[in-house]
Amino acid sequence: MPEQQQTTADWQPAVFETPTPNIARVYDYLLGGKDNYAPDRAVAQRIEQTLPEVHLGVKAQRAVLRRVVRHLVGEAGLRQLLDIGSGLPTADNVHQIAQAIDPATKVVYVDNDPVVLAHARALLADNRETVVVAGDLRNPAELLADERLREHLDFGQPVGLLLCGILHYVLDEEEPARVVRELVAELPSGSYVFIHHLLAAGDDAEAAATEAVLRQGVGRAQFRTIGQVAEFLEGLELVDPGVVTVSEWHPEEDGPKLGENPVLRLAAVGVARKP
Ligand SMILES: C[S@@+](CC[C@H](N)C(=O)[O-])C[C@H]1O[C@@H](n2cnc3c(N)ncnc32)[C@H](O)[C@@H]1O
Repeated sequence: MPEQQQTTADWQPAVFETPTPNIARVYDYLLGGKDNYAPDRAVAQRIEQTLPEVHLGVKAQRAVLRRVVRHLVGEAGLRQLLDIGSGLPTADNVHQIAQAIDPATKVVYVDNDPVVLAHARALLADNRETVVVAGDLRNPAELLADERLREHLDFGQPVGLLLCGILHYVLDEEEPARVVRELVAELPSGSYVFIHHLLAAGDDAEAAATEAVLRQGVGRAQFRTIGQVAEFLEGLELVDPGVVTVSEWHPEEDGPKLGENPVLRLAAVGVARKP
């Protein structure tokens, strides 16, 4: 039977589904990236209205991540990193910083967002020391059981676990302390954990408003106090200077200072070693 010709009357425009806003793409927009859609930009712009200095905050987050990776690979001597909630590739990614110190450093990126995974896989297609796997932080047992992760990392040797800008998307009822405990339990002695976490800075109206915009926009956010962030690292040996605000963690290692903007008090960081 001959194929029927489509007439103008039959023609339907292709439906382009507008994606719902997503954490990784909102963050990408705030960092000046291009991998985001209108709904992501709408959320990001609401954050810009409630927290005009947010760009400084996200730059500080990337900067402390660089400092910590340099510390873990350069000073602590780790050669394996597990970065959960790696986000969309941007400048100075974890594998680039680590492999600039030692090209043999193995990196596993984990994220639960399909867009992040697709971009990361494309970028890393020819990097043999870096792999990208799908996984959800809220289910550590399944995440750690991933076959490619297990092939790539040797859990008989120390691992640097990076939880940068992700634990504040795990709600209290999802038991973030249990999640961290279960991950740390799998790591050998001599491993390190890094946490970057947004802070519920007491009666700080900007912090509260930003958390509300994130909750409404991407469906989740749970900022915590610096004491609660420190509790995640209990039982581990804190690396100097302990759990502090983002600009207090070895600012001297990052060249020009970001300054003492109040936005930098809205995030805490800590690095700790498993004895
Ligand atoms: C704000 S970005 C942080 C990116 C990068 N770590 C940084 O600090 O620059 C948070 C990332 O965590 C991912 N994420 C959020 N919840 C997650 C979960 N439960 N499991 C895995 N990834 C998650 C998001 O998709 C996003 O890519």
